[in-house]
Amino acid sequence: MPLDILVGAQWGDEGKGRMVDLLAAEADFVARYCGGDNAGHTVNVGSQTFKLHLIPSGVIHPHTIGIIGNGMVINPQVLFEEINMLEQAGVFIDPSRLEISFAAHLITPAHLALDQAIENQRGAARLGTTLRGIGPAYTDKVSRQGLRVGWMLNPDSFIEELSRHLEITNRLLTRLYDAPPVEIPPIVTAYRKFAAALSPYIKDTSATLNRAIRQGKHVLAEGAQGTLLDLDHGTYPFVTSSSTTAAGALSGLGLGLGCESRVIGVAKAFQTRVGSGPFPTEVEGVVAEHLRGTGENPWDEYGTTTGRPRRVGWLDLVLLRYAVRVNGLTELVLTKLDILSGLPGVNLCVAYRLEDHVYQDLPLGPGGLGTFQPVYEELPGWQEDIGDIRSWEDLPDQACDYILRIEELIGIPVRMVSVGPEREQWVEIA
Ligand code: GDP
Ligand code: IMO
Ligand code: MG
Repeated sequence: MPLDILVGAQWGDEGKGRMVDLLAAEADFVARYCGGDNAGHTVNVGSQTFKLHLIPSGVIHPHTIGIIGNGMVINPQVLFEEINMLEQAGVFIDPSRLEISFAAHLITPAHLALDQAIENQRGAARLGTTLRGIGPAYTDKVSRQGLRVGWMLNPDSFIEELSRHLEITNRLLTRLYDAPPVEIPPIVTAYRKFAAALSPYIKDTSATLNRAIRQGKHVLAEGAQGTLLDLDHGTYPFVTSSSTTAAGALSGLGLGLGCESRVIGVAKAFQTRVGSGPFPTEVEGVVAEHLRGTGENPWDEYGTTTGRPRRVGWLDLVLLRYAVRVNGLTELVLTKLDILSGLPGVNLCVAYRLEDHVYQDLPLGPGGLGTFQPVYEELPGWQEDIGDIRSWEDLPDQACDYILRIEELIGIPVRMVSVGPEREQWVEIA
């Protein structure tokens, strides 16, 4: 297929980065289409671990070209830090290897300050954002007050727009949120430098990708966050501010309808969430400790971007079926199956109960999730360490039954499971 769209099917951190790394071996372009450095995508290659926030994870393969699409918001400081981090690890990024859409938007220190001020004002009702300025930057975009990356190509008028944005945001910070203003001159100096450094990367990335597809090249769209964090389709208001679902890949990259594509959902074999919001299958106690880990292993459930402990629970198939529907998923990839080893039994949430009613699907989207009780099907667990297993035949029968039951209940094939964080730790499902 010319286009593979890979999306998180849950609340983010499903292991998209490591799956992109596998699929990028066959891709010419790897393109991020939503979010910004709120994302944290981990890729392990041998002794090296990469944690990428802005640059598509696929660029670790030297043959690929990375695209930062128009649907993204970019903190230039983070971008250059990431380019340096990659260079130190032996991955060289220059304008021949990374293109940034002129229509993407910029995040400034004023957006970061506003993100913090809004969270402070919400108090106990805070969303638990990553404090990366994501919401305020998208708010400015939608209210047509944002700063487009392409404007950096004309430094004088860009600085005028930047100053206007900083002054307006300072008025908001001080008058509405009782927060200190940002200091304008150092930001202007820094962004003048960023404009010069960023200019060679700024391109019409929609044209690049459409041309590539016409020429028979292979484009991999790398989702960030997850379906349940989508602004429209997620657990609003506990969502991020962008379109994280598969349709967001088209609008966030400037691709049209009609391009043949696989839509690959990535889900963990259980469920996690970082930040506030409803979570019907959330667990505490020994099972939670088992699923989350102690924090000693790099793959334990502590945020890649914020370090916060993630909330954990059983796999929710009501929500997964919803993700199949709103993304049009053609297949699923299941990660972290190894983490379930050692549990006496594993639960699958197959439906919700509210008073006397049992719902197979969400009656009114995922907004009012907090009121439902999960209906579980309990399956036998498996005790073996499965990290070294590479074929379906060698997986414990109970693990195979777990996967087959998931397939049956979501109606699309599970193509692959991962059994550890390393590049080679995966099993193809025949
Ligand atoms: P992303 O945001 O979807 O790219 O996911 P993150 O990188 O934030 O979080 C996934 C974490 O799980 C990372 O630490 C990965 O290295 C780790 N990981 C991914 N797949 C597996 C797996 O199959 N088993 C284990 N144990 N860890 C995994
Ligand atoms: P990846 O790509 C998990 C969550 C935040 C918060 C909500 C809003 O690594 O899967 P924001 O800063 O975007 O305004 O925060 O969204 N969130 C993520 N959770 N993984 C992510 O990205 C996330 N990006 C944002 O925790 O609940
Ligand atoms: Mg992550």
